[in-house]
Amino acid sequence: MVFSLSSNIYFSPMGYISDKSVQQIYDTAKVEDVVGDFVHLKRRGINYIGLCPFHHEKTPSFNVSPVKGIFKCFGCSEGGDAVQFVMKMEQCSYPEALRWVANKYNIELEEIAPSTEQMEKQQAADSLYIVNGFAQEYFTSQLFDTDYGRSVGLQYFKERGLREETIRRFGLGYSNGINSDLVQTALTKGYELPLMQKAGLASTAGKDFFRQRVMFPIHNLSGKVLGFGGRTLSSDKKTPKYLNTPESEIYHKSKILYGISQAKKAIITENMCYMVEGYMDVITLSQAGIENVVASSGTSLTVGQIQLVKRFSPNITILYDGDAAGIKAALRGLELVLEQDMNVKVALIPDGEDPDSYLQKVGITAFKQFLEAESADFILFKTRLLLKDAKNDPIKRAELVKELVETISHIPDALKRAVYVKDCSVLMEIGEQILHTEINKRISAQLKKEHAAGERKEGPTEGELPPPTEEGYSVQVEERQAAQSTGHEFMEKDIARILIQFGHKELSETETVAEFILLNMADLIDEFDSELYAKVVEIYLEYLTEGKKTSPELFIQHQDPKISKLAVNLLSTPYEYSHNWEKLNVYLSSQKMPDENHEADTKSGILRFKLKKVERIMERNQQEIKLLQGKSVDLEELMTLLKVQNKLIQLRGEIAIKSNTVVLK
Ligand code: UTP
Ligand code: MN
Repeated sequence: MVFSLSSNIYFSPMGYISDKSVQQIYDTAKVEDVVGDFVHLKRRGINYIGLCPFHHEKTPSFNVSPVKGIFKCFGCSEGGDAVQFVMKMEQCSYPEALRWVANKYNIELEEIAPSTEQMEKQQAADSLYIVNGFAQEYFTSQLFDTDYGRSVGLQYFKERGLREETIRRFGLGYSNGINSDLVQTALTKGYELPLMQKAGLASTAGKDFFRQRVMFPIHNLSGKVLGFGGRTLSSDKKTPKYLNTPESEIYHKSKILYGISQAKKAIITENMCYMVEGYMDVITLSQAGIENVVASSGTSLTVGQIQLVKRFSPNITILYDGDAAGIKAALRGLELVLEQDMNVKVALIPDGEDPDSYLQKVGITAFKQFLEAESADFILFKTRLLLKDAKNDPIKRAELVKELVETISHIPDALKRAVYVKDCSVLMEIGEQILHTEINKRISAQLKKEHAAGERKEGPTEGELPPPTEEGYSVQVEERQAAQSTGHEFMEKDIARILIQFGHKELSETETVAEFILLNMADLIDEFDSELYAKVVEIYLEYLTEGKKTSPELFIQHQDPKISKLAVNLLSTPYEYSHNWEKLNVYLSSQKMPDENHEADTKSGILRFKLKKVERIMERNQQEIKLLQGKSVDLEELMTLLKVQNKLIQLRGEIAIKSNTVVLK
């Protein structure tokens, strides 16, 4: 879902949507209407609540605010505006979501023709999808409508236990291909040979690429056909069992998950995804009602594939064969999933079976019981696997602990690491502290390596813990807690909130809230501790310099997901700051909530921010004075510092008085 808001023109096969139309869509769309098409909403005060469609819940924590134009779930923290809701719900791109909303409100779109270059690129991809779609329909009609298709292909699928509805759901087919049937038919329909070769449907010699195979079309997220897997029906050891579409402009093996298009809804509702190896594993499980299943299709799992799942759920269960190759693949996959900050379980299919054959053998009830009993988190999985022969051997036990420590050290989230350390400590009878020390060592080694490789890590996003430092994780946590307890982050966050929420409002006849704030802290921008909040200030400065009309929506729709998430969070948690107002003893019960009182909110916000920063500058200054006093003195410098300190004390006093008057006004 890559899109850019810097240019408000969106391309689709039909053309671009003009700026004007995009604006019209935003002006017309009512978030409660759009969400209401998917979620049963109940009015609560000025807002609506309902059951969150993005995670399982029994009591509603999903909020819709018509005034702010946003939705926000306090359970799973999904949030955004009407268009973003459609993107998440329908798993579609930004232009697709815009079109969806336009269609709902019968908005006629102004389309602008794309440039030739873009058109050619799009047409090239489109024509590959189109010819693949044609091939898929052709193979399916061969399967159902020809004698050889029925007697060979359909018969085969039936023997493997597939029902007709399943065959149709997955678009399965049959390719005879002896007389280059597909290529010949496609040519008569106007498809050109080079296109079919590019799509991997025709060989360089112009013959059918897939011959006498049952066909498994491979779909992308939105259900378009990217390519195929074809299984031979011959038992000749020399022919490869499966033949797959070669890499093409649209078929990139490492980013494809077989079955994702059919599975995505179930992965969201079950909040978990089964990862299997083969085409038939997906189809058989899905037919039996386990629909949240996808296959890596024989290749070892890639980061791209895992990230595809992550869009729908953070939980993966790897379901591989229990043979040596399966175990090796499972171990590798498990590390990779953990590194993507997802949760992973593993279950190995016993007795030389695969998920498909095992399910056919034992039946769905026993299969589900098996999944329930065998799905183990990775600590349990590794321990079960390795402890068998390590039980009474101290050296082997130590090896196992090292293995576990290594794996845990790859988990980015410190809280999760702590939980696993606990488990590991109990299972292996080793003190938690030792494990932590070992893990921190490894983390700092990894970081050094990354550093050397020149990798730049991005700063933490709102609500996330920062990445570990070289000194290990705990140092960072302490620093962060210190920053929070002195209140700097809180004050900065408040400035960001005020800018996003009220920046565009008028404070006086000549000045907006944003202008007032930015003017007032011109000299303090460098004092921000949080990159994220500083960025909000920078973005605002940019908007103002460009003379743009600003609004909270600009932030909600911002192209940087960290900013848009922050905007939604700040706009949907009013209790957070009122609570802190109370703590700071500036809250008066007679005072209106900030929502309705942006003037006082702005003025006291900036004053509290300034007070905090001035106090810090004072502390710094004081430190320098102390240092100088201890040494043989440079009197002049000391005098200057003392003067500055006096000025600061005066300034602090003024700010304090002002902030009182604002508060009491
Ligand atoms: P398997 O050999 O385990 O096949 O390969 P399978 O899925 O159990 O197939 P059936 O049940 O015999 O029909 C697992 C996956 O590896 C890929 C395919 O995606 C297959 O589903 N594979 C296998 C290939 O791409 N090429 C091959 O030659 C073999
Ligand atoms: Mn199989």
